[in-house]
Amino acid sequence: MCGIVAYVGNRRAFPILIKGLQRLEYRGYDSAGVGLINNNKIITYKQAGKVSDLLEHVGDRDISGSIGIAHTRWATHGPPNQINSHPHSSSDGRFSLIHNGIIENYASLKKVLENKGHHFKSDTDSEVLMHLIEDVYNNSLNGVEDKEDNRLFKAIRIALNEIIGAYAIIVIEEGNKDEFYAARKGSPLVIGVGNNEYFVASDASPIIEYTNKVIYLKDGEVASLNKNKDVVIKTIDNKKQSPYIEELEQSLESIEKGGFDHFMLKEIFEQPKSIVDTMRGRINPKTNEIILGGIKDHESRILAADRIIIIACGTSWHAALIGEYLIEDLARINVEVEYASEFRYKNPILTNNDIVIAISQSGETADTLAALEIAKESGALTLGICNVAGSSITRETSGGTYTHAGPEIGVASTKAFTAQVTVLTLFALRFSQLRKTVERENYNFLIKELTAVPGKIEKLLALNDNIEKIAKVFKDASNFLYLGRGFNFPVALEGALKLKEISYIHAEGYPAAEMKHGPIALIDDEMPIVVIATRKENYEKIVSNIQEVKARGGKLIAIVTEGDTEVKEIADYCIEIPKCFREIAPLLTIIPLQLLSYHIALMRGCNVDQPRNLAKSVTVE
Ligand code: F6R
Repeated sequence: MCGIVAYVGNRRAFPILIKGLQRLEYRGYDSAGVGLINNNKIITYKQAGKVSDLLEHVGDRDISGSIGIAHTRWATHGPPNQINSHPHSSSDGRFSLIHNGIIENYASLKKVLENKGHHFKSDTDSEVLMHLIEDVYNNSLNGVEDKEDNRLFKAIRIALNEIIGAYAIIVIEEGNKDEFYAARKGSPLVIGVGNNEYFVASDASPIIEYTNKVIYLKDGEVASLNKNKDVVIKTIDNKKQSPYIEELEQSLESIEKGGFDHFMLKEIFEQPKSIVDTMRGRINPKTNEIILGGIKDHESRILAADRIIIIACGTSWHAALIGEYLIEDLARINVEVEYASEFRYKNPILTNNDIVIAISQSGETADTLAALEIAKESGALTLGICNVAGSSITRETSGGTYTHAGPEIGVASTKAFTAQVTVLTLFALRFSQLRKTVERENYNFLIKELTAVPGKIEKLLALNDNIEKIAKVFKDASNFLYLGRGFNFPVALEGALKLKEISYIHAEGYPAAEMKHGPIALIDDEMPIVVIATRKENYEKIVSNIQEVKARGGKLIAIVTEGDTEVKEIADYCIEIPKCFREIAPLLTIIPLQLLSYHIALMRGCNVDQPRNLAKSVTVE
């Protein structure tokens, strides 16, 4: 939800800002803008559309300056046009601001400011925040407190005390080419520390090319970043903080396309490696014991737990559903899966004997964070399964496990999903050992099956060309139905989500047996139906469901286990997955569905990495 980037130092700011915006474009891509300080004046360029449209708009105009701010937007308040794009300036043009997040009380603040004579050009909440800071600067300061506390630094802190909502902001000031200010609450912000230079961005991707020293600003903190000085951090209530500089582990290659046409394809093909990374160091090769450092201290509570509640959104919610099947089946603990957005408002019943697991790729999803807060208040043990290190959910939970899938840049989640399912499998297996619910022999078989997954995915990826051929046949369909049972039911949901979000084809996932309770009415000879019919998972039952579809003329694409003969006779197209235990099947059955969506979207001319209306990190409600 909006990407922000800023630079101050001795290099030319513009190329750094543009490259940074391109790396952050997955966060929002409906308009973009840049603000530079040149000859002591703020120069602003803004444009509706993508970063490439902004570049075209700038053309050969003046882009000099070694300090600047830049923004790529995912519209919340007001349409994505030039006026609503960031940066937003103060009434007198002295200050300029970029913002990611939502100011919930912007309407009342706007009214107060309008009564004081402020005029607004845009529909945005961000412009209101800029004017509020300006108003405090002009009217509410009683001098400066010390050398580190110049007037704007102080005005920002005071203004932010009046804000309800989420923000990551950066503010520059005309005439000050050495320094800017950054603040955050609820929206991510990373500061890169170089030699006499600072970088600030919504995530580390615009920074890693220049420095691996970073500071993760905490909620309610404001930083003054002067290229000639050390960082100064204060809370919005004026308490000085010691900056904690960390070393980034991410590499530049991990955020580039590496020869693939799209990030999504690269990320699908990375899955054999990302799953190895997720498991790395977590299974003792000699004893098969699972070691999860982030939950170790909580194992006695897990052992005694009455219930596990998993909260998540979107694809992470689908992973959670697989987690439910896994944990209930293997560890015999009652699991409930909740949409975070519903859970947070439903007055949930929670006790301190519950365990709440939040799953989130970004670790920043607003609904998941808010649901987590409620869980924390109830005294339940909170654990996180996140991909982004240092993200808000990882900081708000008592423990948890990183998925270590590496940066996921394609907006449609692929490798993060399989990494989440891998962690959930590790959780289920570990819990099963704590609770002694799975025989050792069976446990060892399951570990063997899990560690064989990367090799089996390699085999599946080799089917890419065949899947592309199937995609060609169905690329013009208007609707798709995805059916699965048991462990493969959430995979049907995820397959349908992948297709709809990147190809804009309407697709629904259903438990196969539910079909005759309604969706069967949709089936005719125009309707492609993807059925996941792998061996052992209610196989005979799903074969009957397939017969029902066939009898109504539906076109069948079946995901079957290698060696299958029965479904092959009925289905129009079959994609074979290697033999595996049913508990492991989702990690394999999802791969062809990801590839099918990718090829269909591509053939329809869609932007697979940045589908319309979507953004990678949903930091608004
Ligand atoms: C779909 C997708 C979204 C996310 C959802 C939650 O491909 O990516 O549905 O899964 O927005 O995001 P995280 O996992 O970051 O909390």
